[in-house]
Amino acid sequence: MQTHLKGRDLIDLQEWTKDEIETLLDVAFELKRERALGRPHPLLRDKVLAMLFFFSSTRTRASFEAGMAQLGGHAQFIESRTTQIAHGDTAKEIGEILGRYNDGIAIRHCDWGVGNEYIRGVAEASRVPVLNMQCDVYHPHQALADLMTIVEHFGDPRGKTATISWAHDPSYLKPISAPQSLVLLLPRFGMNVRLVHPPEFPLMSDIVEVARENARAAHAGFEVMDDFDAGFAGSDVIYAKSWGAMLTTTDESEDLRLINKYAGWMTDERHMKAAGEDAVFMHPLPADRNVEVTDAVIDGPQSIVYDQAENRLHGQKAVMALTMG
Ligand code: CP
Repeated sequence: MQTHLKGRDLIDLQEWTKDEIETLLDVAFELKRERALGRPHPLLRDKVLAMLFFFSSTRTRASFEAGMAQLGGHAQFIESRTTQIAHGDTAKEIGEILGRYNDGIAIRHCDWGVGNEYIRGVAEASRVPVLNMQCDVYHPHQALADLMTIVEHFGDPRGKTATISWAHDPSYLKPISAPQSLVLLLPRFGMNVRLVHPPEFPLMSDIVEVARENARAAHAGFEVMDDFDAGFAGSDVIYAKSWGAMLTTTDESEDLRLINKYAGWMTDERHMKAAGEDAVFMHPLPADRNVEVTDAVIDGPQSIVYDQAENRLHGQKAVMALTMG
C-alpha cells in the first residue's frame, strides 16, 4: 500500500503505480462500506474542490459534488461559459488563482487537441492537486470506477477477458478518452483486452502501444479486432460504447457518415449469449438505447451499469481523500 499521495495530480492512472492504484481501490471499498453503514467520514472537513466544466455532465458532476459533501467539504460548480475564460483568463491564471482559493481543482475539458493540454497547463501552475474529470485523451475516474466494479463482481480480475468495443451512435461525436483510459488500465491488473473497432475508429496509436506494453509486462493478452460479433465470444466483460472517428477525419459530417456505415454495431441479447451467461455488460453512460445497446441488455440481468455509475462516487472520494487530505 502506498500512502504518500497527498498533493498528487490525477490526469491519468498510467501516471500512478499499480501499488498506488491498489491503495485507491482499497480506500474506495472502505468508504463504500462506511457509507453503507451510515458512518460519517469527514476526512476533508473545511476543504473546497473547484469543479470547472467545459462540457456537460450528469454522473461526474453529481458524484464529485456528493463525494465532497460526504467527506465534510464543499465543491464549487464552475461552468466555463460563466467565467472570464473566453475573455482572457489563461490556464496558468486559472491554476494560480483557483489553487489559492481551493484545496483541489477538478476539470472536464473534452475539446479534441485542447483538453489535455489545458488541464496540464492548469496543473503546472496550481499549488493544489488537479483531477481530470475527462479530457480528449483520458477519463481516469471512469476507468477507476470500471476497475472497482469488475473487482467487486469477479474478485481477482487476472485472467478475465474484457472486450472494449466501438458501438454505433450518430447522436454526437463522443470522446475517445473512456476507452483509452480503460485499455491502459485493465491489462495492468492482468486482464486480457480485446479492443474492437471498425478501421476508421482507431484509438491513439501511442496509447495502444503503451496498453500493449502494459499487457506484456503483466503476461496478459492484448488483441485489436475489427469484427463486432467475433469480439463477444467467451468474453467476461462486454464494454461496448460509441466514439468518434477523430483520428480519421476532423469533418463532423464525414464522421457521421462513417458512424452510419456501421449501424449494426449494437449489443443485443444474441451477443450477450455469445459471451456467456456469466459475462457482464458495462457502459459508462449516457447510452443511446436501442442504438448502441438494446433495452433488453442494458436493463437485463447481465448489466452492471448502475453499480458502475455508483462506483464513480466511491472511487473519486478515495482519490480526493488521499490527494487533498
Ligand atoms: N460517464 C460519465 O462521465 O458521465 P457524465 O458525462 O454524465 O459525467
